[in-house]
Order: sequence, then C-alpha cells, then structure tokens
Amino acid sequence: MSVAKKQYKRVTVKSLVDMKANGEKISMLTAYDYTMAQIVDGAGIDVILVGDSASNVMAGHETTLPITLDQMIYHASSVVRAINRSLVVVDLPFGSYQSDPKEALRSSIRIMKESGGHAVKLEGGKEIKESIKRILKAGIPVMGHLGLTPQSIYKFGTYTVRAREEEEAIKLKEDAKMLERIGCFAVVLEKVPATLAKEVAESISIPVIGIGAGNGVDGQVLVVHDMIGMTHEFNPRFLRRYLDLHKEMTGAFQRYNDDVKSGDFPNEDEQY
Ligand code: KIV
Repeated sequence: MSVAKKQYKRVTVKSLVDMKANGEKISMLTAYDYTMAQIVDGAGIDVILVGDSASNVMAGHETTLPITLDQMIYHASSVVRAINRSLVVVDLPFGSYQSDPKEALRSSIRIMKESGGHAVKLEGGKEIKESIKRILKAGIPVMGHLGLTPQSIYKFGTYTVRAREEEEAIKLKEDAKMLERIGCFAVVLEKVPATLAKEVAESISIPVIGIGAGNGVDGQVLVVHDMIGMTHEFNPRFLRRYLDLHKEMTGAFQRYNDDVKSGDFPNEDEQY
C-alpha cells in the first residue's frame, strides 16, 4: 500500500493549497502522452505536468525552446484524455507568452480550450508579472516557475544550480512572494539550494514544488522518463531512478530481434 492519501477524488488547485495547509506532500510527474498519463494518474500522482521538457524527451531537441504551442496542445490533449484524478498543468512554451500580456492570454486560452488542461505554468518572476495577472484575470489558474528556468538557458549559459549568490536569492524570494500575492496557486522551484527553497516554502502559503530543491518544500516533481530510467545519460544529483527501463527495454528489443531472426517468433500458439 502506498503512503499516498487518495482522499481527493479529483485533485484541484484548491486541493493542492489545502494539502500544503495540512502538511501533506504533493507528488507531481511529467507526462506527454495518453498511455503514460494513464499509468501516472492510476498510480495516484497528484499533478501531471505536460512539461515543455517534451521538447527534449519526446522530440530529441537539445533545449526546450523549439517546442511550439500547437505541439504542447497535442501532448496536453493526449494526457487529458487519460486522466481520472490528477490535476493537469500545461507549460506555456517559449515564445508564446514573453512578448506581451495579450499574447500570454491568447496562448493560455488556446491551451485551456483545445487541450482541456486545468492550469498553465510559466517561467519567470517580475518580468512576466503583467502577463500572469492577465491570465489569472481570465480565470485560468497559473503555476509559477523560478530558479533554473530552462527557457532562459542562453541567458544563463549553463544548467547549474541557481540563486547561490545573495542578489539572485533575494530576487527569487521577492518573486515567489509576488507570485503568491497576485494569485498563482503554486510555484515550481528548480535547482536552487535546499535551505533557500525551504525558506521560500515557509514564507508563502501556496505550495512550492521542488526539482533539485531539497526536502523542505511542499512537493516534488521529476521528469517521468528520467525517474523510470528511459533516459540514461542524464544523471543530475537530484534524480532518483526508480527503474532502469533503458536496460530492460533494450534487453526486450534484443530478445525480440533474436526471436524474429531465428524464426522462433511467432510460434504455433501465436498465429491463426
Ligand atoms: O518542463 C518540465 O518538465 C518542467 C519540470 C522540470 C518542472 O518544467
């Protein structure tokens, strides 16, 4: 029996805030397709993130920048068709919200209407405050994303830990408070020191979901293909692998290859 408390029939943005208030940790994983989302939802994971990490994991791009709004909507609608319980949060991809609040709203409306997702996620703090406010005003729930924001990789130059320096840590704390104040329902903190993440989580009432942000936050998120070991060259310190599917799948494909080549597959029971 898993430790997950499954008292929420359907997870909503309100349930997440309640979970934080009750000290219940929040589980979140990515998914980009129907079959994976069905398994993740069935396992009791609270939030499914249709992350723009689909750009890396599904399409093989080096960064998250190339994925388009149409592609995100395709992935998100596949996920939404699979779920019974989890809350589905969809990333606004690079270029779909940075230019002005109207564009951010238009992109969010397309996601909500065309995919059936329940909320959107955007990367950044005060630079995109007006866009977030515009989206929230339309009744669309928003999850923030601070710390390492992969859509800004060419500004940072590396994927190393963020906000080690005081100036950046102060800005991050201010941004988190601002996101709470304007009405975001949660915030992702990616790759920041654990002490800073804990301080942020304790300073705001909305849930802080960490990835590489230690255990002092209100929940955790991982990219599903990383945690089941389908991707095997990505080995950051924060990643816990629960399976080695790369090895398992390679073995299965090799055995199938051998069976086809040797004529062992299909056998008499496997034909009509
Ligand atoms: O796109 C993504 O998968 C994400 C998570 C790493 C938080 O934003």
